[in-house]
Parts: sequence; C-alpha cells; structure tokens
Amino acid sequence: MIKKNKNILNHVAIIMDGNGRWAQRRNKSRIYGHKKGVKAVLKAINFSLCNKLNVLTLYAFSSENWRRPIQEILSLIKLFICTLSSKIEFIYNNNICLKVIGNLNQLDLKFKNLILYSENLTKSNTGLQLNIAINYGGRWDIVKVIKRIVYLIQIGLLNPNEINENTVSSLISLNHLPPVDLLIRTGGEYRLSNFLLWQIAYTEFYFTNILWPDFDDKVFKIAIDAYFCRKRNFGGL
Ligand code: IPE
Ligand code: IPE
Ligand code: MG
Repeated sequence: MIKKNKNILNHVAIIMDGNGRWAQRRNKSRIYGHKKGVKAVLKAINFSLCNKLNVLTLYAFSSENWRRPIQEILSLIKLFICTLSSKIEFIYNNNICLKVIGNLNQLDLKFKNLILYSENLTKSNTGLQLNIAINYGGRWDIVKVIKRIVYLIQIGLLNPNEINENTVSSLISLNHLPPVDLLIRTGGEYRLSNFLLWQIAYTEFYFTNILWPDFDDKVFKIAIDAYFCRKRNFGGL
C-alpha cells in the first residue's frame, strides 16, 4: 500500500495500449512492438514490487482483440506463452500471486494449462497480487455473474429478493481484492475498450499519450503523483 495525503493506493489497473503504433513509427512489425511491450510489463511489475503496491491488474488481450489479423493473434499468444514460461520462476521467487481473468475456455489448451499451472504454483504467495486480463471483456464478466446468480436461484441458494450490489461484487472478477484506485491508459485513447466495467465505478483515471513500450518508472510515478493530487469524494463532500 502506498499512502500520501488522504489517498491510499492499493490497486492499479493498466490498459497497455500503443505497441503497434510504437513499432510502426520505427518501420517495424506490430509484433516487434508487442515484444517491446513485454519489457515495459516487466518494468511495471518491478516498480510495483519496489513500491510495495498490493495489486496490479494488466489488460493484455481483450475479448475483441480476436478481430485482429490471425497472424498477429497467433504471434501474441506465442509471446504470452514464452513470457509466462520464462518468467514464472521470477514471479514465484518474488512472492507474486498470479491470477488470470478472462474467458480461459476459448484459449488454446496448452496456454490454458500453463495459466492454471502458474496460478496454482503462486496461489500461496503473499506479496504483489498480479492480475493479467486475457480474453477479458467487462461485459463478459457481468454476463458471467448474471448466469451465476440465475444458477444460485435455481438451486435454491439465493433468494431473488436478497440480490443487491454486494451480490454482484462478490461474484465479479477481482471480487476478493481491494477496489481499483487508479486506472492508467497509455497510447492516447480516451476509452475503456471493455475493460473492467463494474469494478471501476469510483476509480480515478489517468490517460497518457506515451505508447506502452515507452512506459517506465518515471511515467508510472507521474501517474501515481497525479492520483495523490485527486480529491476522492465517493459521492460525499
Ligand atoms: C495494445 O497495443 C496491446 C494489445 C491490444 C494486445 P496495440 O496492439 O493495440 O497497439 P496500437 O494501439 O495498435 O498502437
Ligand atoms: C485495449 O486496446 C485492449 C488491450 C490493451 C489489451 P485496443 O487497442 O484493443 O483498444 P481499441 O480497439 O483501440 O479500443
Ligand atoms: Mg490499441
């Protein structure tokens, strides 16, 4: 936890956007940009470890990213598998607890198994909680909750009259974690692209034109400093 003024920072989420443009500006392939993006991911994780952040949630692949050319999708999945396999030891040794959020059932079995293995290996780690959103969509997340609620009603474990915001919060992804305090989006776009919808009702947003491969400690620190200058009201005064 990082604390300054009245604001406490437990949880940062990042929409890591701009890899393709970063590469195109250098006359390189988009996948070259994604590879550079992985280096920025490692920097962000190290920064979070050094600053004792509790939770870091990264948007790596949206449920809409399947609309990209198949070659880019295959390269991205290969990159995810390579990165996770080569970094899992680092993750484990640094006491990081890894969780992937998103629809794993649509992923290649080898990839899904690697994710499940990594989550299981690190589940008792007590340091940084690292969530990676892969094949994630905020709407998918909400639909998943609705289906669960219907099921709980059908089997008699939930009374419809007792459904409230807490019911939904307790079933949505990241439910066991502190709320997202700060959402950073790189790449200059001012949108959510179907990232966490329910979870960010009172999150502070920070948008930057910096393209994701250029994201470093300095940019992370500027975003956090901006967060600490915000006055969070939560509807009050
Ligand atoms: C974000 O970078 C990474 C993923 C969505 C996987 P982009 O690939 O969207 O890069 P731009 O936005 O085209 O520059
Ligand atoms: C959002 O970036 C998804 C991730 C960063 C994983 P996109 O590049 O896919 O977003 P849009 O398509 O520009 O909204
Ligand atoms: Mg993009």
